[in-house]
Amino acid sequence: MTDSGELTALRDELISAIDGAGDEAALEALRVSALGKKGAISERMKGLGKLDGEARKAAGQALNKLKDEVGSAIAARQADFKAAALDERLATEFVDVTLPARPEPAGTIHPVSQVWEEVVQIFADLGFSVAEGPHIETDWYNFGALNIPDDHPARQEHDTFYLNPKEDGTRMVLRTHTSPVQIRTMETTQPPIRIIAPGRTFRSDSDQTHTPMFHQVEGLVLDESTHLGHLKWCLEEFCKAFFELDEVKMRFRASHFPFTEPSMEVDIGCSWVDGQVKIGVGDDWLEILGSGMVHPNVIRAGGLDPEKIQGFAFGVGIDRIAMLKYGIPDLRAFFESDLRWLRHYGFSSLQRPNLAGGLS
Ligand code: PHE
Repeated sequence: MTDSGELTALRDELISAIDGAGDEAALEALRVSALGKKGAISERMKGLGKLDGEARKAAGQALNKLKDEVGSAIAARQADFKAAALDERLATEFVDVTLPARPEPAGTIHPVSQVWEEVVQIFADLGFSVAEGPHIETDWYNFGALNIPDDHPARQEHDTFYLNPKEDGTRMVLRTHTSPVQIRTMETTQPPIRIIAPGRTFRSDSDQTHTPMFHQVEGLVLDESTHLGHLKWCLEEFCKAFFELDEVKMRFRASHFPFTEPSMEVDIGCSWVDGQVKIGVGDDWLEILGSGMVHPNVIRAGGLDPEKIQGFAFGVGIDRIAMLKYGIPDLRAFFESDLRWLRHYGFSSLQRPNLAGGLS
């Protein structure tokens, strides 16, 4: 039963069956029929015990050789199947990386972020750097250092959000304007100072033109000789660049802020056509910012000497100028996260504002 002629026939039969196996299941069945517990080769191995001496040795060697040969043939065929399966996957899962990106709309840049970035670009071009301060402020930074004493009516006007009192009785506030960054900057920077501070601000107020959280950008310029003419020039340059106009009509109106003296509110000329506002021309006015020469008490509170140092400050409502520039009627919609609104008023994330390529 283990003579070499018979083994050769078994070998030829197994090898051709393996070569002809159509799939992995057929190959597995062949493996079981040859090498499994009751397989043709295994059965013959069991029969070796009945032989004696030399014959057993020779038959054993022949069977082992056959077993190796059949095992290798099965492994080779298995590798063929794996390679074929991979080829098929590569063919069906082919990705053409040269195709254009999917046309589905991606996210858009919120008008506040867009305008924030536009403002930063304009002032960067004028030599300003960007400063920051915390949203939760002490009474001193938000009011006291800005020449707003305890009993000052401005405190009521600011509709301040207070945090619960601390153990010592003092209360932190959500900053009502970005002006505290003026003080923080003076404390850490030696003049000449030229900064803007864009950021979130908070007042307990809500209607079509007010939201409890809104955005301002503060500006501060301090050195030994900066005067009101610089303030006017700087804000005119800003308005022309921001509204992308060669000329803008502006009006500097005497006003009052405790932290500036003199103080001016700035209006921009506009007209209304079919309920839409047109900026820069016309006989109507829109208030866009507060400004003035920094009060000596504020300079002193910031640790500088008002006998030597002077300059100007301003505060612009980012949301407000965004509404004007992009014709957005209701401020509250800015913060409602309505996808239709965001798609309509949002900006492309691939076209960031810069002065060379155009702001918007
Ligand atoms: N902080 C003022 C406000 O919130 C704006 C302002 C800033 C005015 C700097 C003058 C100077 O209304």
